[in-house]
Amino acid sequence: MTADLTHCGSLLDALPDPALLVGPDRRILLANPPARELFSAPLVGSSALSYIRQPEPAAALEKGLATLTDPPGAPCMVEARMIQTTPTRETILRVTVAPVVATGGLAAVLVTLRDISQVEHAEEQRRDFVANVSHEMRSPLTVLAGFIETLKGPAKGDPVATANFLDIMEREAQRMSRLVSDLLSLSRVEAEERVRPRAQVSLSEVVRATLAALRPQIEDAGITVDFRDLPDAPAIPGDRDQLVQVFHNLVENAMKYGASGGRIEIEIERQEQSPGFPGPVMKVRIRDFGDGIDALHLPRLTERFYRVDGHRSRTMGGTGLGLAIVKHIINRHRGRLSIRSTRGEGSTFAVVLPVA
Ligand SMILES: Nc1ncnc2c1ncn2[C@@H]1O[C@H](COP(=O)(O)OP(=O)(O)O)[C@@H](O)[C@H]1O
Ligand SMILES: [Mg+2]
Repeated sequence: MTADLTHCGSLLDALPDPALLVGPDRRILLANPPARELFSAPLVGSSALSYIRQPEPAAALEKGLATLTDPPGAPCMVEARMIQTTPTRETILRVTVAPVVATGGLAAVLVTLRDISQVEHAEEQRRDFVANVSHEMRSPLTVLAGFIETLKGPAKGDPVATANFLDIMEREAQRMSRLVSDLLSLSRVEAEERVRPRAQVSLSEVVRATLAALRPQIEDAGITVDFRDLPDAPAIPGDRDQLVQVFHNLVENAMKYGASGGRIEIEIERQEQSPGFPGPVMKVRIRDFGDGIDALHLPRLTERFYRVDGHRSRTMGGTGLGLAIVKHIINRHRGRLSIRSTRGEGSTFAVVLPVA
């Protein structure tokens, strides 16, 4: 029995997941370091039920132990889900109870606790994403279907109504098309996130090209753009098209949501040091003087489909994916996006990119 325990002990210590060996009397015979860390307790000698208390995993433990004394057939493995809450975090664990019958008569169960929080979180995100996409697609489709119906029926032959409805239908179709191209763009950017860009790019050229492309919208909105360029700024490793996409999104947002301030400031600077970066960086700041964003929204702005005001974003032609795309592109460039905003004063979006 002692020899068996010593062997089991070194086996348990070799397991990466928290693991316990529990005897038929429910006492913990052995516990590896990850298990002691998980429960912040020495464990050995205590009853396993004081740590595995939730009904489902406790029942799994009992079932596993029952197969030791009263084997109905082949010993089997039992699984359950358990939530371990500490003051700082909640961990979702998959508990597996498997009987261990060793030479020398040791009968016990091996309880392993695998952290599946990340897996469950990813699954939840995927479900949310599908639900969001479907929801975003459904509203333009409903409008289109409604107007097609009207044009075929009550409004048939009415040229004024027809022209009017076709305009609305065109807008809705464009909205769906923007959504699809943003979704494609997001999936491309995500797929490439681990591939570092190799080309050398001039950020001033990127910002100038972005502003040139947005010129008509800037003029329509009657906004002044104050661009403080940095002459002879060093080129940085980057993907030009993606960086144009970043600044296009940020300047467009400043224009759409910060329009009340009437002006946007864009500034490029080089910094020899920046927290979290080993070498010099380039920083591009886009500042608007609009309504600003409440602090509670800031940490979530780069989530897919997260919008402070969904209705406003939709009427402005937004998909809610812009900042999610921006974040992925910046990650690919090993850079950082920081957002500062004060209600009533405006917002500053800063893109920091490493020079080498
Ligand atoms: N400069 C800004 N000022 C105020 N709110 C902003 C600004 N930029 C972004 N936001 C908020 O963040 C949300 C998400 O932005 P984004 O991902 O680009 O989506 P979209 O522009 O398609 O709505 C916007 O809907 C808006 O509520
Ligand atoms: Mg946007």
